[in-house]
Amino acid sequence: MMASQVVKPDTRNCKRPRELEIFLHFVSNLSTIAVGFLSVMIRWISVLKKYVESTRQKKAIFSKQERLPCIAPLVTTVEETPQIVSACVRGHFPQWLRGYLLRVGPGKFEFGKDKYNHWFDGMALLHQFRMEKGTVTYRSKFLQSDTYKANSVHDRIVISEFGTLAVPDPCKNVFERFLSKFEVPAITDNTNVNYVQYKGDYYLSTETNFMNKVDIKTLEKTEKVDWRKFIAVNGATAHPHYDADGTAYNMGNSYGSHGSCYNVIRVPPEKVDLGETIHGAQVICSIASAEGMRPSYYHSFGMTRNYVIFIEQPLKMNLWKVVTSKIRGKSFADGISWEPQYNTRFHVVDKHTGQLLPGMYYSKPFVTFHQINAFEDQGCVVIDLCCQDDGRSLEVYQLQNLRKVGEGLDQVYNSVGRSFPRRFVLPLHVSLNDPEGQNLSPLSYSSASAVKQADGKIWCSYENLHPEGLEDEGDLERRWLLPLGTCVCSCTRNQ
Ligand SMILES: [Fe+2]
Repeated sequence: MMASQVVKPDTRNCKRPRELEIFLHFVSNLSTIAVGFLSVMIRWISVLKKYVESTRQKKAIFSKQERLPCIAPLVTTVEETPQIVSACVRGHFPQWLRGYLLRVGPGKFEFGKDKYNHWFDGMALLHQFRMEKGTVTYRSKFLQSDTYKANSVHDRIVISEFGTLAVPDPCKNVFERFLSKFEVPAITDNTNVNYVQYKGDYYLSTETNFMNKVDIKTLEKTEKVDWRKFIAVNGATAHPHYDADGTAYNMGNSYGSHGSCYNVIRVPPEKVDLGETIHGAQVICSIASAEGMRPSYYHSFGMTRNYVIFIEQPLKMNLWKVVTSKIRGKSFADGISWEPQYNTRFHVVDKHTGQLLPGMYYSKPFVTFHQINAFEDQGCVVIDLCCQDDGRSLEVYQLQNLRKVGEGLDQVYNSVGRSFPRRFVLPLHVSLNDPEGQNLSPLSYSSASAVKQADGKIWCSYENLHPEGLEDEGDLERRWLLPLGTCVCSCTRNQ
């Protein structure tokens, strides 16, 4: 069988036009260039992909939650248990563990026909778990604050809380009720946020100027303390920090003709006299608010061995609205607004000298209620925070929202901005000679960056500290508390 032959045309004597030769040469070169370019691109795409994945700030996307269990029992009035009762222990804990676990939270949400509006308004209920030799006893008592006692005597709400305005006595005539709107409102001493310690004593704290000292064995209030009698502040947070020797640091605002200031407070650990409370407290640094009449709201702050870190966030308190709230018939909460047109700023204060560091650290707007951790490393402050990109969650925690069921509750939950753990790195020693546009963080283990801008500001971008799929983890309580971060600082103490 003959092999088939392919007859090729004889082109040896066939001349192509010069233009065609040039064109074919160009196409040949072009294809070579394209192949080379593609091979280079393929190599670089993988490198680029890795770089982008390591540096970009992934925006967490939450799936909608549906059919959430009702949480109304958590925000409903309960009876106190003043007599010690045995608690049911599931599992076991070490025999040597001996002491108190102390918690506080809102436990009464109405007096007579008056009802509180907001989760934060409920009367402080003190919980005590006593652990000894593998057993646990429990008791609880309502804090006998002046607010609690006044409300009880009148069987109505007579002192305003964060989200509830006390209305005038209905027994007064119309004229008296109108005039009462212009009376200076009483400030609540319903200290339902946290147990704190000063000089070894325990106090219950909220964010007003009042704290209540308590005997943690009996859960009885022993003294009411007013910050204003010791230093020029209008209150302090319920989340102080402590040095190893017991020195306490806190922050509180002051308002005056000069505007408003954020003050760093130090309370010494020693008592000169046994009857002392926060005697010797000092303001060691005052930071002027960016806007005198609209300071930032804050619930806590960060501290390292040598520095206090204050976060000025665009959750603003309109002081004019706060002052006129009673006349306008609005609660204190009405004066707080989320204003994401502003960035969030970090201030760093030297604890030992009281000096505010010159670094101007900014990030995109976020709100934080609780810091997680803070430490120093390689000339930087590293601070981990629970962050929300939407700062409107305080509005959502109205009791009428939290007591919803079914789809209504799902809608409430899905409207709350989620809270994520994020790390920021603040380089402490920034100079005029530092290059612009470069990351000044030397920390190889964190993708958080701090880049100097042309205007001298340091732009801080965070590192996510959570794994993918965080939203699918945890039980109901954690899912509800994640948005706010949750107060977790109530005390444990060995006897
Ligand atoms: Fe808290």
